Amino acid sequence: MKTNTAEPGSATHVLRCVHCGMVQAEGDKMFRCRGCGELLEVVYPEWAGAAREFGLRLKEIWRERRTGTLPEDVSGVWRFRELLPQVERQHVVTMREGNTPLVQLTRAAHELKLPRLFAKHQGMNPTGSFKDTGISVAISMARAKGYEFVCCASTGNTSASVAAYAARAGMKSIVLLPAGQVASGKLAQAIEYGAHVLQLQTDFDGCLNVLNDVVQRFPAYLLNSMNPYRLEGQKTVGFEIMEQLDWNVPDHVVVPGGNLANSSALGKGFLELRELGLIRTLPKISIIQAAGANPLVRTMRENGGMELVRVNAETRATAIRIGNPASWRKAVGVLSTTGGACEDVSEQEIAQAKAELGAEGVGCEPASAASLAGLKKLVRAGFVKANETVVLVLTGHMLKDVDYMLDMRVKRVLGPMSADPATVISTLERLHAGN
Ligand code: F0G
Repeated sequence: MKTNTAEPGSATHVLRCVHCGMVQAEGDKMFRCRGCGELLEVVYPEWAGAAREFGLRLKEIWRERRTGTLPEDVSGVWRFRELLPQVERQHVVTMREGNTPLVQLTRAAHELKLPRLFAKHQGMNPTGSFKDTGISVAISMARAKGYEFVCCASTGNTSASVAAYAARAGMKSIVLLPAGQVASGKLAQAIEYGAHVLQLQTDFDGCLNVLNDVVQRFPAYLLNSMNPYRLEGQKTVGFEIMEQLDWNVPDHVVVPGGNLANSSALGKGFLELRELGLIRTLPKISIIQAAGANPLVRTMRENGGMELVRVNAETRATAIRIGNPASWRKAVGVLSTTGGACEDVSEQEIAQAKAELGAEGVGCEPASAASLAGLKKLVRAGFVKANETVVLVLTGHMLKDVDYMLDMRVKRVLGPMSADPATVISTLERLHAGN
């Protein structure tokens, strides 16, 4: 941001350790602090001197770009490029990511007595999950640095996104997946987009450990969410939410948590908007985990966020089957800065919430439904109050995990029955009569 000129421009950035605060130009190959080994975050030192009118001018620029035609204006990420690391135009890899709908929920709103309940549907991104917003930025950095290979460990969605964006960029992708634990839609995507798909006999946490060693010895750029540029892309969901709510800050944003980067990114986005004077207050950002994969919930309960409690993760919401989350410290920071809650929900509660969203025409994958399941608990506990505005982040598309739905709903499918109108009509009449 050039504070000495009339127009805001892109800011230069540095990386800063979230634990010891050491500022560095680059982390190690896993994007960890060269001093203490913790994660790094992108900071823009020039913002310290930014005048208030720059923040206000940003709103106008971003609005104008919505009617633009340049790829970087059409993108729901790069449209906000004043708040992103600088990347030369020719290196930007974009597929119109972001730009996802904010859907007003009616049935769930009625049941919970929350008249202003919204779902920000990140499953409407190009590869069907929020990952695209972050991968677009991080892979652009990789391209600018001249990498040929990019890599990730994944519960599925990151691998789909990495594979697609690498293909668009003319790069090669390597994805390490926990064998037998990735929903088939996601696995199929990674294969279709041409990734080297390696299924390992371990879980997600094990895949990430292996990748740690791989990147030391193989020249591939890491696209997991320890890469702080991922979070820069993912934080733009907060900017979109604010635009869609006409800059009225919601009281709560509720998001599912796995490796805990997305919640961290969301918090970073809102904090930066406040820092630049675009908003005055912060929403409470609450993080919901599956009860079988709840390391953050246990960390908060057992030691107030001081030390990570690792768990052996198990849940059918495979996207968030993570026991040793990399970004836990950042997520603890978001909970404490925004005053959000951290809850876990059972498999039954997730399935029920997913079915309820489906019943109002809003499909999502199981991990995403954890946000509604969690909201219900927060309402019951009195943490979310009547008449407060709530945004649920739905992280992935319904078709990612078709097996889950078929397993849960198989009793609702009727037939096979004989293919004649009389049978069909009598069946419909019986159904209508409620038998
Ligand atoms: N929802 C979905 C659909 C996800 O795919 C993930 C993470 C999360 C929520 C949790 O986000 O990890 O930032 O807390 N999926 C990663 C992957 C781990 O490999 O696709 P988080």
